[in-house]
Amino acid sequence: MRIPEDVRRDIPLTSEVIYFDNTATSLTPKPVIEAMDEYYLRYRANVHRGVHRLSQMATHKYEESRKVVADFINARFEEVVFTKNTSESLNLVALGMEDIFRPGDRIVTTPYEHHSDLLPWQRLAGKKGLRLEFIEGDDGGNLDLSDAERKIRGAKLVAVQHVSNALGVIHEVEELGKMAEEEGAIFVVDAAQSAGHMEVDVRKLEADFLAFSGHKGPMGPTGIGVLYINEEFFEVFEPPLIGGGTIEDVDLDGYMPAEPPERFEAGTPNIGGAIGLAAGIRYIQKIGLDRIESQERKLVKRITEGLDELEVPWYGPRDLKKHAGVVSFNVPPLHPHDVAAILDERNIMVRSGHHCALPVIKKLGINGTVRASVHVYNSVEEVEIFLGVMEDLLRNLE
Ligand SMILES: Cc1ncc(COP(=O)(O)O)c(C=O)c1O
Repeated sequence: MRIPEDVRRDIPLTSEVIYFDNTATSLTPKPVIEAMDEYYLRYRANVHRGVHRLSQMATHKYEESRKVVADFINARFEEVVFTKNTSESLNLVALGMEDIFRPGDRIVTTPYEHHSDLLPWQRLAGKKGLRLEFIEGDDGGNLDLSDAERKIRGAKLVAVQHVSNALGVIHEVEELGKMAEEEGAIFVVDAAQSAGHMEVDVRKLEADFLAFSGHKGPMGPTGIGVLYINEEFFEVFEPPLIGGGTIEDVDLDGYMPAEPPERFEAGTPNIGGAIGLAAGIRYIQKIGLDRIESQERKLVKRITEGLDELEVPWYGPRDLKKHAGVVSFNVPPLHPHDVAAILDERNIMVRSGHHCALPVIKKLGINGTVRASVHVYNSVEEVEIFLGVMEDLLRNLE
């Protein structure tokens, strides 16, 4: 496949707008839509319950999709649970692990987390009398690893994002995973902004739980997410949701849970979504993660260089090896929403605001940022148009 031309051909919207809001959600290539269409048009039925051939086919495709996800993150088949999104996956971890905590236990995270990897721990800490501690870091999002080592010592759980959606920083999750492993702490990874953009290998990361969404990097549909549960936790993790599909046997006195992964998936799942997610993963595997990463690096290099030339302040690590495809910036004195509206008038879609990472915005002492985020289908030409529009915008401010 030619990058980005062939991918752009599969995504008609790329010829209509410059889509730089990939951190929020990515565009959908035709093969993903076709895979879902096929389910809805040809074998639309529920999974796991039917003897008839449509149900058999739907079950086969749904479980085949789980296998695609498992291989994608180097997990075992049973360790992959389909959820709605990253937020739901992380909430499930906090709820399902509640019983292992005793008052005074410590949870360690970072000040850069998305609200979805912060609020569940805050609530859990409040409920169980736990201490929530934050690894020190600078304004670029670079973590102080010796502080991490100190704080992780004796911690019960460590929860970190792989990549920050607000600053674009790639955190040292492998090192943090080793620290957690050495201390016997549970290691939870929020891979919402890394899955589909770079390698995510649950074994290399020594993750006990890992969450990501189908609609971001993997180019799948909305409404489908993944929770990886390391098999060592199958008996410890208490499924927060139970009911249809989660049991081996039931009588009026009680029930016996099914084996994983069914144990953790209550009710009718998002069958079409799982099938679409698998199609998205196959699609990005066809492109190759290394090529996705190098295209995004090329674009980020040019965006940051261009913003520097225009003297537009941008955030995140200066070391671009640590900078994923997300560039947050500001055009003082304009409000980030005004900048986003002006860019929209010129057909460029960017995000503005606090990006569900208010502690980061507060740490920087600003009221938000404008965020341009790329995927493999974005082109250098689009970046040049964006920089040209930014130049115009600045000229009009003078
Ligand atoms: C780092 C990070 N974690 C979690 C989420 C939540 O993802 P979702 O809205 O798909 O649940 C996001 C979304 O932007 C994110 O960037």
